[in-house]
Amino acid sequence: MKLQSKAEEIQKKARKHLSPVLTRVTELAVEKAKGARFWTADGEEYLDFVSGVAVNAVGHAHERMVKAIQQQAENLIHFGLNYGYYESAANLAEKLAEITPGELDTVFFSNSGGEAVDGAIKLAKAASGRPGIIAFEGSFHGRTLGATAITASSSKYRKYYEPILGEVYHAPYPYPAGLKGVKEEEVTEYCLHQIHKLFDLRIDPSRVAAFIIEPVMGEGGYYPAPQAFLQELRKLADMHGILLVFDEVQTGFGRTGKMFAAEHSGVVPDILVLAKALSGGLPLGAIVAKREIHEKWPTGGHGSTFGGNPVSCAAALANIGVIEEQKLVERSSLLGERIVNRLRENLKDLPGIREIRGVGLMIGIEFEWDLAATAVPSIKEKALEHHLLIMNCGVYGQTIRLMLPLNIDEKDLTEGLDILENAIKDIL
Ligand SMILES: Cc1ncc(COP(=O)(O)O)c(C=O)c1O
Repeated sequence: MKLQSKAEEIQKKARKHLSPVLTRVTELAVEKAKGARFWTADGEEYLDFVSGVAVNAVGHAHERMVKAIQQQAENLIHFGLNYGYYESAANLAEKLAEITPGELDTVFFSNSGGEAVDGAIKLAKAASGRPGIIAFEGSFHGRTLGATAITASSSKYRKYYEPILGEVYHAPYPYPAGLKGVKEEEVTEYCLHQIHKLFDLRIDPSRVAAFIIEPVMGEGGYYPAPQAFLQELRKLADMHGILLVFDEVQTGFGRTGKMFAAEHSGVVPDILVLAKALSGGLPLGAIVAKREIHEKWPTGGHGSTFGGNPVSCAAALANIGVIEEQKLVERSSLLGERIVNRLRENLKDLPGIREIRGVGLMIGIEFEWDLAATAVPSIKEKALEHHLLIMNCGVYGQTIRLMLPLNIDEKDLTEGLDILENAIKDIL
């Protein structure tokens, strides 16, 4: 009888006992990761252009993060933020108050993005005393029930749970890139008009607690919202006393070439939702808002056993420290532009590519939508055969998205882009 390899052993156990509800993008059994590379349990080496879905901003197992995690774990692994204060959570809250836009200065910590989105919905409802939430078609906000209720990036995320949450309305997301030949101004005007129509036909603005939007749509296809749209949304929110919530779970911490994507438009949201690259890998989310808004959230109205875990907060502080000291936000902007130029140049004569775009290191290669179910999976497969992990997004899966570590080195970058371009050329 053939002996099982270590990877096969892991796969066998996992396939038997892990819930099949999770979509599994690969069948790899991963043992170790460092920087932009990972190794399987059988010692196979791969390049990682996914970074744990935009989580490992400073790469896998950055030594400064590892040290901070070890030191914190030796002192305090868990206590519970409702039973006392501790330094890593206090320092991280102070740091977020310093680096987030405007006067957002008060933080509630959760364990994940979806949980932070749920908390933000609760905060908006409690602070405004209003029931309605307006979210945007194509947006993804997470898998908790509240986040599922406002998610509209695919009906598959919602269909087993409906009806979910009352008083949720969806307006169209302005994504001119996805609509051939339509100008940014036209989409902006149309989408603003649709919000006015919602107010006239479905919910009076005085009943709306919050708008919640991703400033650059992630899971839905890597579409940046026009800056003018976000600025007008801010005005509309102010006019009607509606809170503006930015979900920056995927765009935060330098991913878009600014520390936060909000900075591109100069719009300061009332509530900023963070997770993923906040901690660079440990479970952590945050709801950041002005103190006066948090003060309208009655004490005891929300909570969490693990939220703001000491080790997660220590990891986040080290992670943000590396991003700041190594000027990775600036690098994200410069490198992103260089990569987009390279891809446009090297792939320009190929049929089937609709657009190559990027905001910093949030880079998308969008294919013609009828290729989403055919060529795109084949390109991913081909890349994986050559030991490069990539991922796609979009309602139809039409966009290959690159989520490189912000500090990826030139060798890994060139090797990965070569594999990617060759895979695309082979398949198209
Ligand atoms: C914009 C956005 N919001 C929320 C979430 C949910 O985060 P989590 O998976 O940590 O719950 C995601 C995850 O992909 C996301 O991209």
